[in-house]
Amino acid sequence: MTTGPTTEEAFIWSDKFILGYRPIDETHEEFVDLVRQMEAAADPDLPPLLALFAEHAKAHFDLENQLMVETEFPPRDCHIDEHAAVMKSIEEVLELVNHGQYAYGRSLIDELIRWFPSHADHLDSALAHWMCKRSLRKTSGVAAQFAIALNAMGERQPRASSIGSAEPADGTTPC
Ligand SMILES: [Fe+2]
Ligand SMILES: [Fe+2]
Repeated sequence: MTTGPTTEEAFIWSDKFILGYRPIDETHEEFVDLVRQMEAAADPDLPPLLALFAEHAKAHFDLENQLMVETEFPPRDCHIDEHAAVMKSIEEVLELVNHGQYAYGRSLIDELIRWFPSHADHLDSALAHWMCKRSLRKTSGVAAQFAIALNAMGERQPRASSIGSAEPADGTTPC
């Protein structure tokens, strides 16, 4: 569960942002790192960093949109619409920052820091949960097929704890 940063709290990646679905967690870590870099940057360094961030945001939103469409995630429309609105703002501000209007860039960074925890909590976490459930179902299906194949060969059934476990080797995220 994520929470918005307080005024004293720096916007840095930590366990509180982890949602449990690795592809989303990885892209969220990149999001937080890039926003942090922009926050710390001097004005003349802002245009290239914001351009890099815009590339990240497009890939980030495309990934989540693709997951939602491919898996027919039921409440996908409002999530996809929110991504589109944020992407539009990023592109408009990039244009302004490229013309030296850095104050718009600073406002965007503040808004992103306010927006991300709430978006991750309310929309991305539901998607991550949905993707984890699908992964578990798929893993169970593979385990069942493997057990049937072993039985057919007259072998001992594998232990449930060793086949189809959703626990990753490093134990950090469930899927
Ligand atoms: Fe996200
Ligand atoms: Fe999202």
